[in-house]
Formats: sequence, C-alpha cells, structure tokens
Amino acid sequence: MSALVRLQINGQPVEVPEGASVAAAIAQVTLHFRTSVNGAPRAPLCGMGVCFECRVRIDGVAHQRACMTPVREGMRVDTDD
Ligand code: FES
Repeated sequence: MSALVRLQINGQPVEVPEGASVAAAIAQVTLHFRTSVNGAPRAPLCGMGVCFECRVRIDGVAHQRACMTPVREGMRVDTDD
C-alpha cells in the first residue's frame, strides 16, 4: 500500500497516494481548473503534458502542468491561475 501525501488544493487539505499527479489530487476536491481569457472553463485534456490545459499554480509558481507534476508533501496548489 502506498504512503499518503498531504497537500492543499485551493486551501483545502487533501491526501492522495504517493506518486499521484497533481491533476489526480485536484480531482479529489474539484473539477474547476483555470478559466481562459474569454471566460471559458478549462480542464485537463490530454493527460500527457501536450495540451497545457491543466495549468495550475504550485507553491507560487504559475503555469505548472498538473498532469505532469507528482504530488509532494506540503504542496500548495491553486487551480484558477
Ligand atoms: S492535461 Fe494536457 S498538458 Fe496536462
């Protein structure tokens, strides 16, 4: 059984198995990702780092691909970036 990693998604605590992606962790608490410049909701599309639709802010660093980033203990993720 995998160890659990604790992080925050939009300020909400969540625990997911070690090795999970940030996108998977986000799916535990919300389906809301960023909003495009014309107001359209965006969400992960390819799941393999190509489309950049899953961009989030991680520990203050903007435009990180949630699908390509593994969770880390204490990570802070903001989805509407
Ligand atoms: S879902 Fe396409 S880059 Fe993350």
